[in-house]
Amino acid sequence: MTYPITRLRRLRRNETIRAMVEETILRPADLIMPLFVCPGTKVKNPIKSMPGNYQLSVDLLVENCKELYGKGVKSILLFGIPESKDDTGMVATHDDAIVQRAVIAIKKVLPDMYIIADICNCEYTTHGHCGTIVDGDVHNDLTLDTLSKQAISFARVGTDMVAPSDMMDGRVGHMRAALDADGYYNTPIMAYSAKYASAFYGPFRDAAESTPKFGNRATYQMNPSNSDEALREVELDIAEGADIVMVKPALSYLDVIRRVKDNYNMPLAAYNVSGEFSMVKAAAANGWIDEERIVREILTSIKRAGADLIISYHTQDIIHKL
Ligand code: PBG
Repeated sequence: MTYPITRLRRLRRNETIRAMVEETILRPADLIMPLFVCPGTKVKNPIKSMPGNYQLSVDLLVENCKELYGKGVKSILLFGIPESKDDTGMVATHDDAIVQRAVIAIKKVLPDMYIIADICNCEYTTHGHCGTIVDGDVHNDLTLDTLSKQAISFARVGTDMVAPSDMMDGRVGHMRAALDADGYYNTPIMAYSAKYASAFYGPFRDAAESTPKFGNRATYQMNPSNSDEALREVELDIAEGADIVMVKPALSYLDVIRRVKDNYNMPLAAYNVSGEFSMVKAAAANGWIDEERIVREILTSIKRAGADLIISYHTQDIIHKL
């Protein structure tokens, strides 16, 4: 049937009918808020390139979490800025490391806040790379040990979920085996499966103080040109025991999100990363765009592409309006 019998505008005539046929609906439970924790007390360092986001000391982070929980934020993703760094990131594997202390403190007052810990070494190494350096590059298999040690410590202090973002080969399987061997078989793994070597991480690296001191991350993160390879990454992570897979960044990779969703029956997360957030904030500050409408459109598009979960710095601004 075509025009004039078929007229698609019939179902767009008012807000009620438009809502009745709406296909993609964002829910508060879809959103995860990333947060940054740093040493000290009463510390609230604004992250210049990410307006509204801060490096918070544990005490203020707990206050912030209470406020967020009140607004409807039920899950957070934690990143740490440690008091000192080392060559391999071992500083992050102790139960009194910065993020572990934050988990313990948050759980004390908000036991139901779902806490996800990002697992990586780049915030904890002196050189800013995601693992142990041998001959000028990150050594895959040595790095697996430090990552799994981090994961176990997180599980031990009560973290709900771990999310490896390092892109080493085999890390999901290694971490799953290590967690299970210590009895943490109920701790899920959300794998940053298709994580691209992206310029969109720029503001995050200021926030997490994790810029590599030499070279770049191209020997471990994916080439932005590739999407067949993304499916191979996802497939391997599923085989190794990932509970949730992820595509990151989100906006330049909506096609990858859709391919992953079409190919695997897996819960899929997408990371609406720092650069994507900062561009919106900068344009909004200039009065060039309507921030709330843009944010709704962006998050809806990521969900429409196939993501079930969205990690986004916009969460705190939008969740109570959904
Ligand atoms: C750590 C990590 C990064 C991000 C999340 N985990 C940075 C990177 O790989 O350089 C980026 C998040 C963002 O840009 O919002 N490996």
